[in-house]
Amino acid sequence: MPMLPAFDMVLFGGTGDLVMRKLLPALYHQHRDGMLSKDSRVIAVAPNDLSRADFQALAEKQCSEFLGAAYDYPTWQAFSRRVHYLQLDANNRASFNPLQTLLDEAPDKVRVFYLSTSPTLFTPICAHLADAQLITPQARNVPEKPLGHDLQSSREINDAIGDYFSEQQIFRIDHYLGKEPVQNLLALRFGNALFEPLWRREWVRDVQITVAEQLGVEGRGAFYDKIGALRDMLQNHLLQLLCIVAMEPPSSIDPDAVRDEKLKVLRALRPFTDHDVATKTVRGQYRAGAIDGQPVPAYQEEGGIGDSSRTETFVAVKAEIDNWRWAGVPFFLRTGKRMPEKLAEIVINFREVPHSIFDVPAHARQPNKLVIRMQPDESMKLYFLAKTPGDAMSLNQVSLNLDFEEIFKTRRLEAYERLLMDAVRGKLTLFVRRDEQEAAWRWVEPILSTWAVSHDRPKHYTAGSWGPASSSALLSRDGLQWHEEA
Ligand code: BG6
Repeated sequence: MPMLPAFDMVLFGGTGDLVMRKLLPALYHQHRDGMLSKDSRVIAVAPNDLSRADFQALAEKQCSEFLGAAYDYPTWQAFSRRVHYLQLDANNRASFNPLQTLLDEAPDKVRVFYLSTSPTLFTPICAHLADAQLITPQARNVPEKPLGHDLQSSREINDAIGDYFSEQQIFRIDHYLGKEPVQNLLALRFGNALFEPLWRREWVRDVQITVAEQLGVEGRGAFYDKIGALRDMLQNHLLQLLCIVAMEPPSSIDPDAVRDEKLKVLRALRPFTDHDVATKTVRGQYRAGAIDGQPVPAYQEEGGIGDSSRTETFVAVKAEIDNWRWAGVPFFLRTGKRMPEKLAEIVINFREVPHSIFDVPAHARQPNKLVIRMQPDESMKLYFLAKTPGDAMSLNQVSLNLDFEEIFKTRRLEAYERLLMDAVRGKLTLFVRRDEQEAAWRWVEPILSTWAVSHDRPKHYTAGSWGPASSSALLSRDGLQWHEEA
């Protein structure tokens, strides 16, 4: 890969968790790999009264923990020389002056304004950047989620940013799009002819997309309680994965060619009626239980959450896509906190053979399936039936395994690393366009509004389980099972 163009990256919310956990470590890796030109700079800004040296020390302390074995003292020292810090109150125009002075030293460089703050600050930040004439043609805006809590609020945020930045300058982050296996899914679908003829209703029985986390709300309780799993994960990450599975082949990898196809999928999602919300969605909330043998408290006992919280920490939905390729194929999406393992996978279940000539035992009578695993390991497994060696014609399920970490031993780019670099290069393919984001909100809104007035509460599930029993029932109504149950 050629070196990145010289840039100034301004991190709003510069002392926050995302900056310390993901953004600075991502930039450190790129520095270590020799991808950053000599004059590229990282400028963290936040309201805290810190000197540059204070910030550098704080960043080293926190990032070294997240970098683990990748942390190296001399390399960090060299990286740290690129890192600046400015105290800045986003609501106060005058406090943008030092930033203006620093950026004006190199007006032609690529400028990335990464907004990792509450979205309520996006408008003043953009307005003050514009007033200080910092939005050059080479400037990009990277707003971090949550971009709103419903369609209306997301429109307001997009309007506010759109007043100052053109759509071509806005890089809406969905970090799932930056994950290596998601790229691999594009490669599998559009780099190979093998699956394309099978990738449709005639051959696919159902699709399951699971993103499970072992973690709970990790000190974010008060924030999470206003959001819930549907907004936090399903509206964005899971729907983006669904789009990549279901989209038609784009004519090229150009941003708009890909995003046009994803948008068509979002627009073809069958809207939910009130009745559908009752029968095709499940929301759950975890109770006390155990993860890896360690007891963990109930959601309502986590800090910042009250006994009466009705926020879902688990959601499962049956989505249907009304187009020729997918009519009649259910897409089951599920995500939850405090599940038995950290797992992100896509399962494509193919149809059964039309007539079996073999006497296959019930436990082995499984149709073909393709399992694309994104986390914790990166792999693809294709399951099929094979004869067990021996006299009898007995069939059993076997799998063909592709372990990408074994095949490609090179360092994996973290999702944020790839996305930051794409933002610097101005490559929009892996970022969400405004119309996609709004179509996703439009589809989840009836679920949110029906839940809001429903007397039902989220179903309880024990921490360390795969969610409430009604999640299994969602599939069994169609005679199906989740992958781990099958
Ligand atoms: C974030 C959510 O977008 O994704 C978090 O806000 C969640 O609640 C996280 O924990 C999961 O990301 P990953 O990459 O760890 O699967």
